[in-house]
Amino acid sequence: MRKKLIAANWKMYKTPDQTREFFREFLPAVSGHDRDEIVVCTPDIDLAAGIEAVKGTQVAVGAQNVHWKTEGAFTGETSTTMLLALGVTHVIIGHSERRQYFCETDDTVNMRLKAALEAGLTPICCVGEVLEEREAGSTDDVLRRQCVRAFHAISAKKAGNLVVAYEPVWAIGTGKTATPEIAAEAHMVIRREAAEIFGEDFAAKLRILYGGSVKPENASVLMAQEEIDGALVGGASLDAKSFAAIVKY
Ligand code: 13P
Repeated sequence: MRKKLIAANWKMYKTPDQTREFFREFLPAVSGHDRDEIVVCTPDIDLAAGIEAVKGTQVAVGAQNVHWKTEGAFTGETSTTMLLALGVTHVIIGHSERRQYFCETDDTVNMRLKAALEAGLTPICCVGEVLEEREAGSTDDVLRRQCVRAFHAISAKKAGNLVVAYEPVWAIGTGKTATPEIAAEAHMVIRREAAEIFGEDFAAKLRILYGGSVKPENASVLMAQEEIDGALVGGASLDAKSFAAIVKY
């Protein structure tokens, strides 16, 4: 049995005050909920406020990106050492918005992933096809390529707490959700590739989340799929009530 992980990706939203306000409402709403693992990935500026707020609860706080070096002359970057010092436990890596707007490549995803695993963080590594790739029938190839490159030179032993998120780019922020069947099919492709790379045992335990217009209204049908091991939620995670409803799908 894979414990589901319900993760919020706040993207570039909320100030520290708004973060505290969110948790004041969200934490009582999910108090005692331990069926699923819960993590809220905030902008770096909100991490300290988030970590302070969740102290003593079962809710974790994650970052949305991390550099591959532990320190150095890299203006504007954040390292695994810095995240760990704050108490961050999870980090999103290779989100499609970083690939699209910030020159993230399969190679930099691989470097970030190695650094996160090395540091003992739980990386949520994002893969997913764009609309043209889906329409051209190349979804499976794209997912396989992204996995092969992201997981390059990482052993099953090192990949321990790796989580993958399947986020079809055409479903992000568009209101278009992949049907549970489309998502499950993509998850199977990813799991098969993970089995090739890390072995069957690892693949059987690997959690693969679905992301792309997850809302309280569609969370339960998506989560009912055996292949879907949780959700990575953007827009609908910004509101405490709506994210709590997704957690309790
Ligand atoms: P939406 O839930 O807003 O579609 O965003 C999905 C996403 O990108 C989560 O990482």
